[in-house]
Amino acid sequence: MADSLNCDLKSLSPLQLFERVTEQGEKVRALKAGKAPKDEIDAAVRMLLSLKLSYKTTTGQDYQAGLPPKDLVLINNGTTKEEDEDLVDPWNVQTSNAKGVDYDKLIVRFGSSKIDTDLINRIERATGQKPHHFLRRGIFFSHRDMDQILDAYENKKSFYLYTGRGPSSQAMHVGHLIPFMFTKWLQEVFDVPLVIQLTDDEKYLWKDMTVEKAYEYAKENAKDIIACGFDINKTFIFSDLDYLGTSPGFYKNIVKVQKHVTFNQVKGIFGFTDSDCIGKISFPAIQAAPSFSSSFPQIFNGKESIQCLIPCAIDQDPYFRMTRDVAPRIGQPKPALLHSVFFPALQGAQTKMSASDPNSSIFLTDTPKQIKTKINKHAFSGGRDTIEEHRKYGGNCDVDVSFMYLTFFLEDDDRLEQLKQAYTSGELLTGELKKVLIETMQPLIAAHQERRKQVTDEVVKQFMTPRKLAFEF
Ligand code: TYM
Repeated sequence: MADSLNCDLKSLSPLQLFERVTEQGEKVRALKAGKAPKDEIDAAVRMLLSLKLSYKTTTGQDYQAGLPPKDLVLINNGTTKEEDEDLVDPWNVQTSNAKGVDYDKLIVRFGSSKIDTDLINRIERATGQKPHHFLRRGIFFSHRDMDQILDAYENKKSFYLYTGRGPSSQAMHVGHLIPFMFTKWLQEVFDVPLVIQLTDDEKYLWKDMTVEKAYEYAKENAKDIIACGFDINKTFIFSDLDYLGTSPGFYKNIVKVQKHVTFNQVKGIFGFTDSDCIGKISFPAIQAAPSFSSSFPQIFNGKESIQCLIPCAIDQDPYFRMTRDVAPRIGQPKPALLHSVFFPALQGAQTKMSASDPNSSIFLTDTPKQIKTKINKHAFSGGRDTIEEHRKYGGNCDVDVSFMYLTFFLEDDDRLEQLKQAYTSGELLTGELKKVLIETMQPLIAAHQERRKQVTDEVVKQFMTPRKLAFEF
């Protein structure tokens, strides 16, 4: 009996074990409250102790009520978030610190790993390329299992890239470019297939929008994504509303994930409530499924178990913590991840740039004049109140939004360092720093708009057609 219980418990994930302990604890309390017979209470207590022991053996942590295993920290219901902690989930990013989210703390809370110099050097050795400035400057700062991807790559085993976009509006903002610019670099240096999911279904479920509109935005956003320069022979872009109905492999993975995640778990991970529609509750399985190569038989020749690497900002991590918890139980490898920091709102790094707040964002559709006005009017300054004070004490690059934006988009390391020195010493004024930013952003966005103009509906259709890519599997 005890053996079969242990065997049973071994097949459970840390989160399932956590839930079993919680349930059993509730059962013991209910039995005691209901003054149940002593032998019944004793049996339930023995079971509770046994579950707690299994939990400790599996996770290396003591069971603590309300504190789930590290890889799957609850994010949205406030049970584990301390008062002074930053709020980071797929829908909100909020901190009281003008320097932005404390990413080191987030790594500890989310249980991911820091991208350190050793890992960056290893990427450089494996690819023979100078690391992207997003890596050199800590913009991609956290990972899960990137070492495994490099092990596989060094042993001539392929992997694939997966990223995505929720098409909530016609226009994307410059923050959205971050994961796509980096993904393009990864695709070039590793030479691997890439799949890009457009979650128009998600946006239909979350926003006040028709299905038709969501699909239209998906195709419009695809143009901006294509304009980042992805290789058509190596990239498959798909809309959920379109592709799901045509791919049995994809749907099978969705139901497998759905079967292995309970309502309780998604409530814990995403903060869903009883009044959320069932579309939302089951959506995480749809964002999980592209992490498994069998969702794309046309690309991987029906092969399962090809390792996946997901570049994204850290707000998307909850989806993939869930996916990584489920993967071994459905016989699939856990996807690896590379996480970026957030591109801050114009008003300051207390929150991320977000399309739902137009004043916080520079859009890829903005004119040179709009870019100039937005930066001059809204970009939070780390400069001093008067020129005299600024000259005397210098500006603060840690909170200055213009300087932060330059760390994302000004590629020249020496020039960035010069600007930092000059601003910090007071030699450079806020208006002058803003001018540098405006002169950096205007041509960058104009070039993007020019490339986007070349992306015809026909090109979008080709990228979005399920097909074999230029790789043999
Ligand atoms: P979405 O459309 O909110 O964001 C698309 C991508 O951009 C990142 N991002 C940002 N990065 C830096 N600074 C910001 N201010 C900023 N805002 C958004 C997001 O992390 C994301 O990488 N549900 C997803 C779509 C999706 C997806 C995926 C994303 C489906 N599968 C796989 C990443 C990986 C969404 O609505 O993303």
